Order: sequence, then structure tokens, then C-alpha cells
Amino acid sequence: MPAPAYLTQHRNRFLEELIDWLRIPSVSADPKFHGDVLKAADYLKDKLAEAGATNVEICPTAGNPIVYGDYMAGPDRPTVLVYGHYDVQPADPYELWTSPPFEPVIKDEKIYARGACDDKGQVYMHVKALEMMLRAGGGAPCNIKFMFEGEEEIGSNNLGIFVKANKEKLQADVILISDTGILANDVPSIEVGLRGLSYHEVEVTGPNRDLHSGLYGGAVMNPINALCDMISSLHDANRHITIPGFYDKVDELSADERAEMAQAPFSETEFKQSIGLPAAVGEAGYTTPERTSIRPTLDVNGIWGGYTGEGAKTVIASKAYAKISMRLVPHQTSDEITALFQKHFESIAPAGITVKVTPHHGGEPVVTPTNSAAYRAAAKALETTFGKKPVPTRGGGSIPIVAMFKSELGLDSVLLGFGLDSDAIHSPNEHFGVFNFLKGIETIPEFYKEYAAATR
Ligand code: BES
Ligand code: MN
Ligand code: MN
Repeated sequence: MPAPAYLTQHRNRFLEELIDWLRIPSVSADPKFHGDVLKAADYLKDKLAEAGATNVEICPTAGNPIVYGDYMAGPDRPTVLVYGHYDVQPADPYELWTSPPFEPVIKDEKIYARGACDDKGQVYMHVKALEMMLRAGGGAPCNIKFMFEGEEEIGSNNLGIFVKANKEKLQADVILISDTGILANDVPSIEVGLRGLSYHEVEVTGPNRDLHSGLYGGAVMNPINALCDMISSLHDANRHITIPGFYDKVDELSADERAEMAQAPFSETEFKQSIGLPAAVGEAGYTTPERTSIRPTLDVNGIWGGYTGEGAKTVIASKAYAKISMRLVPHQTSDEITALFQKHFESIAPAGITVKVTPHHGGEPVVTPTNSAAYRAAAKALETTFGKKPVPTRGGGSIPIVAMFKSELGLDSVLLGFGLDSDAIHSPNEHFGVFNFLKGIETIPEFYKEYAAATR
């Protein structure tokens, strides 16, 4: 399908507006950017209003505000609640960016900036899709409520409170989210699952002060050595996780379901090449796509302690630390896994070491339906704009609020994302294809059209 004339005509302005928004470093994890987070929320509010949304407001929370706006097509029309996030991950390490993270550039038809794909670029597709429908499409065929938060990357705690307190305002028929990806630009797909999360900071303590490693080394348990031993014991030789009870509730897929998953195009060679690895490593008995979607995992995200400055210092540190996360699948729950991890990690401390485990935010896994009107509408919309039927895929990432939308509002979500795994989200040189941005703007109105038609 040729791109709508309006999109072709206004694409440069759409890109410039997105770039202006990406210039604002809306990093939620670092209080030093709090003012910028507020600025990014204001920018979004203004653009939503300019696009034609009504009741546009900044809803304060105990943390970063939620940007709300709506468009009412009529009481006989279905209502879609669009969710996304305008906060971004920290841009560190800055020195690994080829252009500064908050000075966006378009290079090789890709927009480079922190948040370009996750999730400001994808949120902006929705704002521009609204503009296009209202200015060139005679209006939108669905009622639309927009709810964009500024704390997704730090756990969505305040959004959870907001959702519970505003059920009436948020009443809808389905949730639409663009914060995931497709398999490739010529392989459209729809994510139908997200993993949950259990995240911990661990502190291990040995001697009551740092020690000279010549005077004491070999006679005391070194906390860093101990932490490494403990971490390495969390996987066995088959890369199974050794925490007792960890797999008890894991939903095992049937052979048929696994065979169906294997139909989705995937190249192991390209996977390895794209990240510069000679081998893919993971849980025995599962393929790479299975390991990154239907299986739970455990990873160390950071580890520190002791001397890390210039040159050599001979020392045994008093303390060592790590941040350890687990990705969860149905029907694991973050509370249960958090308790199992905590108990197990404390129990494996060697003599002479004490352990403190501090859980961070968690999230529940979800699987979204593929037999709903909204899923079918999304599939048709992608088929129209990509010229190919999309394949359903289970995603590896987490969006904790999605499970809450189901439990609190009773609503399923459709994950109509347009990113690519190669977009380097959370990494240096995050980018978003201009093709993907424009395809999103083109596809979203098709979704509303199909969904309105199906529910008539
Ligand atoms: N948009 C991502 C999650 C994602 C990316 C899902 C790609 C599927 C495909 C989201 O912003 C994110 O980064 N979530 C975090 C969890 C959050 C609690 C910090 C994650 O998955 O690590
Ligand atoms: Mn995101
Ligand atoms: Mn993210």
C-alpha cells in the first residue's frame, strides 16, 4: 500500500518534532534529570493537544506525571486505551556513543538517540497517527484514550496506583501498546507474550575492614571470590537454574506449540553475527528463540567491589555487590520467585560471609490472546501496510504494567510494536528506523479502522 499522502507530505516535520523531543533527556532513574522528565511530559502534552486530542492534561503522581488525553468518536464506538512511556534509560556509558545520546541525528535512515525506539519514537507514532486521522482521514473510527507514563523504566509503581484510582476514566475495550518489536522489516510480527521480572541487589560482607591481601589472603573468605562462587552456582552445567523450586510452576509448552514457534523465521547465524559472538549459549534442550521467550532466565546485570582504579592495589575488600535479575514466564510470580531467590542466596553463603538481599521492583509475565477482535485487527493492519501476514511471537522483555491492566482493568493488550532487536535499546547508539517510525504511523490508523469494523 502506498503511504498516505499526508504522511509523505509531513514526514520531515514529524521527524523534526520527534528529534526535538528526543533532545530532552527524560531519564527516570537519575534524579538529576527530574526537570527534563517534566519538560518531556509537557512537550508530549502540547503535541497531543496540537494533534487534536481533547481533555489533555498532566496528571501528577507521587513521582513522574502521567500525560493523558483522549478523542471521542462516539458512544457507539469501541474504546482503545493507548499506553506508552516517555521516560528513557540512562545513556551511560556516554563514550561508547558515536553521536551524543541527546543530540539526535539521522544516519543511514535511522534516528540515533536515547529513547528513539524505547519508547519516545514509538509513542510519537501514536501522536502523529492521531494528527493524520483527524486532519486527513475525517476523524478516528474509535474512541481513543492516551495514557503515557514517565516511570516505566523504573517499575511503573505510580502508574499502578493511578490505574487503581482511575478505573472509570480509563474504561476501555482494549489496550494498545507500541513498546515492543517486529522480527524484521520484511517479517512483520506481533508479540503475544512478555516475561516477568524479579530483580535483586545483593551485598556480601566478609571481614570488618579491607585487608592487605598478603597478610590475610588465603586465610579468610574473600567476599568477591565468595560472590563469584555463589553466582556461578546459580546455574548447573546445562545452564539450568539451581534455585530449589524455581521451575516448579513454569508453563511447559507442548511439542505442537514449540513446533509452531519454530515456524517463525530465525537465523542463528545472523543472531550470533549481529552481536559478535561465535556461539550462542543457554539452557540445554531449548533453541535460542525459546531461551529468549518461553524459558525463565537469570543474569547478573552488574557486579562491583574492591579496587577498580588505575594500576594494582593488593587488597581483600570487606564487601562485594551484584545486581541479579530473573526473567519469569507464566505461571511463575515475582513474589514467589523473589522469596525463593532470597532464601536460596542467603543459604549458599560460605562460612565467613554474610549476605543481604534487597529486592527491587518486579513484574508479572503475560501472554496476550490471539483469538480476539483486537489481535485480528492488528494482524490485518500489519498485513495491509507490510503486504504480509504477521506472525505471533513470544517476547523476551518485560512491561510490568501489562499484567496489571489485565488484573485491575480486566483488559487485554495488543503489543503493536515496530522496533527491531538490533535497535540497541538500553545500549549505546540506540536507534529507530525512519521506515519503522513511518510504518507505525501508517499502521496505527489501519488498526483503528479494522477494530471499529470488527466490533460494529
Ligand atoms: N520496551 C521495553 C520492554 C521490551 C522491549 C519488551 C522489547 C519487548 C521487546 C521496556 O521499556 C523495558 O525495558 N522493560 C524493562 C523492565 C522494566 C521494569 C525496567 C525490561 O524489560 O528490562
Ligand atoms: Mn519500553
Ligand atoms: Mn526499556
